[in-house]
Amino acid sequence: MKPVAIVGVGQTKFGENWHQSLKQMAFESSMAALTDAKLDKKSIEALFVGNMASGRFTGQEHLGPLVAESLGINVPAANCEAACASGALAFNQGWLAIQSGKYDVVLVTGVEKMSDVKVEEASLSLMAAGEQEWEGSAGLTFAGAYALMARAHMLKFGTTREQLAMVAVNNHKNGVKNPYAQFTFPITLEAALNAPLVADPLRLYDCSPITDGSAALILASEKAAKRFETHVWVKAVEQASDTLALHNRASIVELAAAESAAKKAYTASGITAEDVDVSEVHDCFTINEILCIEALGFSERGKGGKFVEQGKIAVDGENPINITGGLKAIGHPVGATGVRQLTDLTKILRGDMKEFQGAELGLALNVGGSGATAIVSILGIEK
Ligand code: COA
Repeated sequence: MKPVAIVGVGQTKFGENWHQSLKQMAFESSMAALTDAKLDKKSIEALFVGNMASGRFTGQEHLGPLVAESLGINVPAANCEAACASGALAFNQGWLAIQSGKYDVVLVTGVEKMSDVKVEEASLSLMAAGEQEWEGSAGLTFAGAYALMARAHMLKFGTTREQLAMVAVNNHKNGVKNPYAQFTFPITLEAALNAPLVADPLRLYDCSPITDGSAALILASEKAAKRFETHVWVKAVEQASDTLALHNRASIVELAAAESAAKKAYTASGITAEDVDVSEVHDCFTINEILCIEALGFSERGKGGKFVEQGKIAVDGENPINITGGLKAIGHPVGATGVRQLTDLTKILRGDMKEFQGAELGLALNVGGSGATAIVSILGIEK
């Protein structure tokens, strides 16, 4: 594979951005990435947009040219959809476009505007990415799907409600210092354990929120990267799929697609799980952070809850995870999240985060739906 670098990153604040349209948010994050890279927009050769459901949330489709129009650039532009993994899908497509040799400088922008509709409507729109014949038609939501996975994990492995809540406590703590996060308040274990029930055993603080936001990054070929001051290198991007329907899976206590993407990414980059210094994983619901920990090989299967309980995911732990707040505290504008994970990882590896220095290898795992799409990206300071 050819070396590809991330040379600029940007994002909007995540939250209820009622003052901004979808187009304005995509413009703001894309311009921030261009400014970060000190790049003129005329140098962008292609644009990949990550978005899951803007047709349902805002009535707006055809986002590729819409975002290009906002920037005043007339380049090939495409929308990429893979449920909550749409952002990483856009990144993967941008990376492949440079791999193809056709482009040297590509913009990847993830965007979603979810808060203009009521939460019930948002839940239905999100569930459109789930299986409809059996699950959607029976009233299942993603909170419900992950609740089933959580309950099965608890029964099979003894994972506890406290361990789920500890994921939320850790990620809320990490979000406090993130100026872009939707929630910048810490929570106690007690508050997490007693929060209103959403889908048993998941409570309010086990859920990522409904969020508006956008994140963007600029990819450059090895030749083009020489023009830029800062580089973080893409060491691997790997994607895998699983069934949409939970009942068609051999097991619902594991993320088979994430495990497969991780194995391929470790092989492609020549590293192992032990080499990863910091990771961004898909904590759309607290159980999913535990499933991701296991799929990535950070812990044995069934031991992800214990791993969290032992404090390994803390900023100063053995295996720091979601150190900027995760989807839980930063928010989860579904099409933007995969790009946001990579912009944060890039900033961490560049040393932008004062309290976390020296990381050389970072990993991002972006999951779509209840695990039907998984994309693992590995970034490093060396090629
Ligand atoms: N975590 C922490 N606090 C949250 C929160 C969350 N996930 N969601 C809402 N809140 C807070 C709000 O800020 C608000 O606080 P305030 O009263 O101090 O202003 C309060 O809780 C009520 O907010 P509201 O918007 O009325 O919540 P809600 O009950 O309508 O929605 C959920 C809560 C959990 C149902 C909703 O956030 C949700 O559906 N999340 C899952 C989204 C999802 O499925 N994403 C895709 C993943 S695959």
